Amino acid sequence: MRLEDYQPYSFELESTDLTFDIRADHTDVESTTSFRRKNDEQNELELDGIDLELLSIAIDNRPLTSNEYSVDSTKLSIVDLPERFKLTIQTRIYPQANTALEGLYRSGDLYCTQCEAEGFRKITYYPDRPDVQSKFTTTLVADSGQFGVMLANGNLIRDEITSDNRRRVTWVDPFNKPSYLFALVAGNLAVLEDNFTTLSGRNIALRIYSEPHNIDACTHAMESLKRAMAWDESAFGREYDLDTFMIVAVEDFNMGAMENKGLNIFNTSCVLASPSTATDAAYLRVEGVVAHEYFHNWSGNRVTCRDWFQLSLKEGFTVFRDSEFSAAMNSRNVKRIQDVDVLRTAQFAEDASPLAHPVRPTSYIEISNFYTTTIYEKGAEVVRMLSTMLGQDNFRSATDLYFDRHDGGAATTEDFVVAMEDVSGVNLDRFRNWYSQAGTPVIEVEESRINDLITLHLKQSCPPSPNQPSKSTFHIPISIGLISIDGQDALGQAGAANGFDIHVHTDLNFENPNADGTLAFHFDCEETTITISGVPPKSVVSFLRGFSAPVNVTFPRSNTDLLHLATLDTDGFVRWDAAQKILGSTITTPASDTQFAKALLQKLSRSAVSAADDGETKALLASAMTLPSTLYVLDQNPGRDVIELDGGRDRLLSEMGIALEDSWEEIVNQNISDSPYHADGISIARRSLSHLAMDYLGAGLEKRGPGTAWDLYYDLYRRCDNLTDRLFAFSRLLRLEASLAEKKSVVIQDFHDRFNASALVTDKWFSVQAGCKVSGTLPRIVELATHPEFDLQNPNRARALLSTFATVNHREFHRSDGKSYTFLADQILKLDSLNPQLASRVCIPLTRWQRFDSGRQERMKDSLERIQRDCQSKDLREVTQKSLVA
Ligand code: BES
Ligand code: ZN
Repeated sequence: MRLEDYQPYSFELESTDLTFDIRADHTDVESTTSFRRKNDEQNELELDGIDLELLSIAIDNRPLTSNEYSVDSTKLSIVDLPERFKLTIQTRIYPQANTALEGLYRSGDLYCTQCEAEGFRKITYYPDRPDVQSKFTTTLVADSGQFGVMLANGNLIRDEITSDNRRRVTWVDPFNKPSYLFALVAGNLAVLEDNFTTLSGRNIALRIYSEPHNIDACTHAMESLKRAMAWDESAFGREYDLDTFMIVAVEDFNMGAMENKGLNIFNTSCVLASPSTATDAAYLRVEGVVAHEYFHNWSGNRVTCRDWFQLSLKEGFTVFRDSEFSAAMNSRNVKRIQDVDVLRTAQFAEDASPLAHPVRPTSYIEISNFYTTTIYEKGAEVVRMLSTMLGQDNFRSATDLYFDRHDGGAATTEDFVVAMEDVSGVNLDRFRNWYSQAGTPVIEVEESRINDLITLHLKQSCPPSPNQPSKSTFHIPISIGLISIDGQDALGQAGAANGFDIHVHTDLNFENPNADGTLAFHFDCEETTITISGVPPKSVVSFLRGFSAPVNVTFPRSNTDLLHLATLDTDGFVRWDAAQKILGSTITTPASDTQFAKALLQKLSRSAVSAADDGETKALLASAMTLPSTLYVLDQNPGRDVIELDGGRDRLLSEMGIALEDSWEEIVNQNISDSPYHADGISIARRSLSHLAMDYLGAGLEKRGPGTAWDLYYDLYRRCDNLTDRLFAFSRLLRLEASLAEKKSVVIQDFHDRFNASALVTDKWFSVQAGCKVSGTLPRIVELATHPEFDLQNPNRARALLSTFATVNHREFHRSDGKSYTFLADQILKLDSLNPQLASRVCIPLTRWQRFDSGRQERMKDSLERIQRDCQSKDLREVTQKSLVA
């Protein structure tokens, strides 16, 4: 599919009526659609359809004979049509045999749908494209005893028992929508009800459905939903538009959740939360995903995408919106740091890989492969840059204009940019390159300093990407501050109050938007110089505050400057980033001097000991003291041996564990809690600080004598009342010495038996073992793949074992004999015949082979080649083919 081939559809759809007759071994679908031809030249009707049994087809109630239409494996076409007509099609489908989880499928005893991006064509023949919209009426007919709950989009208008004792319900959605937002659910479900009063005083009924035994775990999702609804009104002026909003939790789901109009369908992992079955991270994820899908009601549903090349229009924008929401509900700095961490390790790797593509791609083979970290996370960064450049008020006016202009329509990323331009008057020509060019720009900074004059020389470039050998200049917003020796923001009011007389000279446009000491520069040329005069002695430049653009920065600086920033900068991101740099360079040079790492951790751990009991402060300190991930360190040092770096990370952990033992002990003691579990900011921050300190302590103990950390973790494992602590302790116990094998297997059994009733905790039982980074554990992982509770057909379970193994367990996944790659490839090929979308996602870690040393590269490519040779789906074919081209 190519962007340049886009053609508007030749017909308008006035209404779509669907009837689903759900039977034990099949479902019959009748669809009746009113078409109107838009122009005279085009009168061939093309409908998409895959894996459908066509039972009948009629135009204006007249059945067609087989020579009046043509049908192949993906399309149905009819020619010579009147200007207006009613098309009725009957198809038969087999939901219980649908393991791809796309279209209508069964999850346990529940029937549900997943139509984005192109699943509707597995339900009936239809123009399955986002720019074709229609008003849907949905009727479900099913056995009355078996289905207590029968739902579809919109409002319920009829619910009756038929003469043959079947239940028949009808739902009407008053809004136009594309087929990808269609949904239905039928099953025996429990419901949690609540309500919300909108800004204009309308009362909305809120319902969350789950299997009866999980309904108590839905309250956190419900509270999150109400917060999200209120926030979208205050932050973006967006009000909900139907009388009911429903969420249904299902156990088998390819993704996290889906924004179907008025009827969101969620993976149980993104709805359910109780202290003993969800971690702190899961509580935050539920809040974020509930918000994300709710926010789509405007950014996605009311204004949808013209075609799938515009996917980031809804996804990037909505990720930006949900991350602003989470920042407002929790700690802004910590949310930013987590987002940047993901971006730099996952998205930057994609951008540097043969699968790199722009935020608005120009071609694809299988659209499911394009729900990528570039579309989502880089797309969100592009929106964030716009909000930074326009400032809060203009950005809000521009989003208002965008929603207003395109309400009810199908828009493009260009429409979004134009709204930004129209409101602000900022010229965004060079900014558009962020949408059209792949690759992560690099900014090289050289700093020189003579007396009170700092000169910053900036140069931008961008490495080549597939089909894009050279790039043109990006418009990059760069936020810069200056931190004085005593930690004052010298460019802001504090600077002025201190009598600093600082001047900035540059050809770039820049603003001082909040007068808070952060200047925002528009870096839109290849090279430039910024000079700052009147700089107070020993102040340090704080560069790319808030990570104002998704770029790689090379800025050679002294450890002294980094230490200054890591401990004193007022910008949370820069503090964390400076700390990561110091710790990262200590990890990469094995025999290096650890004095800066030690000085840094000493200062930070002391701050933690004396910190007020405040969630934001504690959470930020915990992030700053966390050693950079092995993959981040590897990406900074291409070609190095990943296992060696992982070992270097562990060594630094144990060395610092010993050197600062007293501080770690004090942090653990201060932050351990006796009160019952609560997932609020301060409690979460205390747990992350105490886990961090226990990691240092435990590593230190182990270095002194193998096995000596057992009691530290086992004690927590036994006495804790929540999954966050228990999972932490469980995972650390499994990492300890091999000599403890027997004790470990007792704990593995204990964890298993304790939580066997919960599928989500059993997933964790698999994932902790899959992520256990001890050499020689591959046989255990192979064994787990044949465990009776392992199930490739359940995406959560498959990911828990396979994706965790491939993305977390560097030590064993990247063993040098390549046996883990072979194992993964075997599993991917098995998965391919069941669920191609999932198989293709599980394959992603192998496609990142470039970041590893040459020996591993060859072995990873061998596995990719085998997958390419033996795979069945175009999902896997596209991913393997493209990843092997470079
Ligand atoms: N629209 C997507 C769900 C989707 C993606 C369905 C691809 C089918 C194919 C949804 O809004 C989404 O983005 N979900 C994310 C979670 C979100 C918080 C980023 C997901 O499912 O991972
Ligand atoms: Zn989304």
